[in-house]
Amino acid sequence: MKKTSLNDIAQQLGVSKTLVSLVLNGKAREHRISAEVCKRVEKLAKELNYKPNQIAKGLRTGQTNTIGLMIADIANPFFGKLGREIEKEAASHGYRVIFCSSDENAENSREQIELLQQGQVDGFIIAPPAGSENQILSLKKNRTPFVLIDRHFPDIETNYIVVDNVQASYEAVTHLINKGYRKIACVTLNVHLNNMNQRVLGYKQALIDNNIPVDEELIKMMPFSHEKNDVVFAVKQLFEENNRKANAVFFATSKLGIMGIETIHSLGLTIPDDVAVVSFDDPDAYKISQPPISAIAQPLQEIGRESIKVLLALMNNNKANTEVQKIVLKSKFIPRKSSDSLFL
Ligand code: RIB
Repeated sequence: MKKTSLNDIAQQLGVSKTLVSLVLNGKAREHRISAEVCKRVEKLAKELNYKPNQIAKGLRTGQTNTIGLMIADIANPFFGKLGREIEKEAASHGYRVIFCSSDENAENSREQIELLQQGQVDGFIIAPPAGSENQILSLKKNRTPFVLIDRHFPDIETNYIVVDNVQASYEAVTHLINKGYRKIACVTLNVHLNNMNQRVLGYKQALIDNNIPVDEELIKMMPFSHEKNDVVFAVKQLFEENNRKANAVFFATSKLGIMGIETIHSLGLTIPDDVAVVSFDDPDAYKISQPPISAIAQPLQEIGRESIKVLLALMNNNKANTEVQKIVLKSKFIPRKSSDSLFL
């Protein structure tokens, strides 16, 4: 079916193509086009199901109403759900989102950003992998509108929306301590990202504030590309029958948590009787797990809303020096049966 063009509308109404373009691009008032003419143009455009040619518009205006979103792994439930929230918020402002995954790899990140720039996105929302500082500095130098999410680089002044990882981990581990647990392990990622470092900091601070010595033996650092065997080995080191080092564990991400819980069960151990569990993030699997898993739920909708709000301000005022937005949101700890009291 032939797509309706600006010309089709102009010819049917007996007006110029320029007038139709000005009306449909919201520039009628500044060109003193009457409300009656605007109404006729908009009515016919709707009847003919006119869709602007985004590529032509991009070439003409330099704007494509498209945002590049780069996260670590779109298949990860956290990033998948967050991406959906960002996409919904972007759409409510007339923007589309192009997704890509960095796999927490700086070279992938560089290639993806380059590709998206060629696609002429109007701005970026990025969860930057470790080692991508120079890419962020380059976007800054070129005054490309962008917002960092989930983690940022403290040494680089940027707009970011993150959660308070220290407070969230501190609260979850304190919950375990209040339930009577003292030998609490931590399974986290061995990546130099400030959000992951903050989660270990929150874990350690909760122990210290409760006069529990920090035992580095109980902190297991997985490579980002961790396979199940890495987690199985770490969990076995912590909980296997004849040499149990801990009776509770804090998983710093849900991917680690899901692998860890599966391993705990495969060792014939029960949650929480043998091992109490709390985990960062709150995938649907945690709610239906037996027992349901105590979790730190990040405010995905709020992260989506705030990241779009900050990016739109940058894209619409990118000539002006808009004040840098450093937004730190609170997560919500949801206690469930996986961390029931040791003494029940
Ligand atoms: O794998 C997803 C986890 O790591 C989430 O906690 C998110 O914060 C990311 O950094």
